[in-house]
Amino acid sequence: MLKLVKATDPILRTKTEPFNFDGSNDNLLELIPQMIEAMRTNGGIGLAAPQVGLPLRVFVMEIENKEFVCINPVILGKSIDTEVVEEGCLSFPGIKLAITRPKSVIVEYQDPTGKTISTELEGLESRCFQHESDHLNGITFEQKVSKLILNMAKRRQRKIRKEEK
Ligand code: CO
Repeated sequence: MLKLVKATDPILRTKTEPFNFDGSNDNLLELIPQMIEAMRTNGGIGLAAPQVGLPLRVFVMEIENKEFVCINPVILGKSIDTEVVEEGCLSFPGIKLAITRPKSVIVEYQDPTGKTISTELEGLESRCFQHESDHLNGITFEQKVSKLILNMAKRRQRKIRKEEK
């Protein structure tokens, strides 16, 4: 079973390299079900490879029973309209942050067979795709808010943890 790396692991701050379909990384097909399992076990709707210590340009998402396996994802276009939505991240348990992002995105990625998929995503699918794409570029959601907001969120998390004890 794949394990989540700690929030302080430098891999979360490292940009991943594009994935090659030339056969040098055959074990990807074995890895994907393990990533999906790790996402489900930890109660997430998305999981990027660096979060489980793999420097690959791959993430998985599961939204309303629809499964996505996105390899070498790119965001080709973003809506001008933005919205603020509270996000969580498996790498930062208990922390919720309100993040502003474009509402919809036009994206391209490869599926596990190497086929290119082009599509427009909205709602939670768009939101999650953007959050996971950030992970592949070494960006975590706490970098998208001010220090003040982040500290408030951390204090809130500690308070909740205390109350749970
Ligand atoms: Co995340």
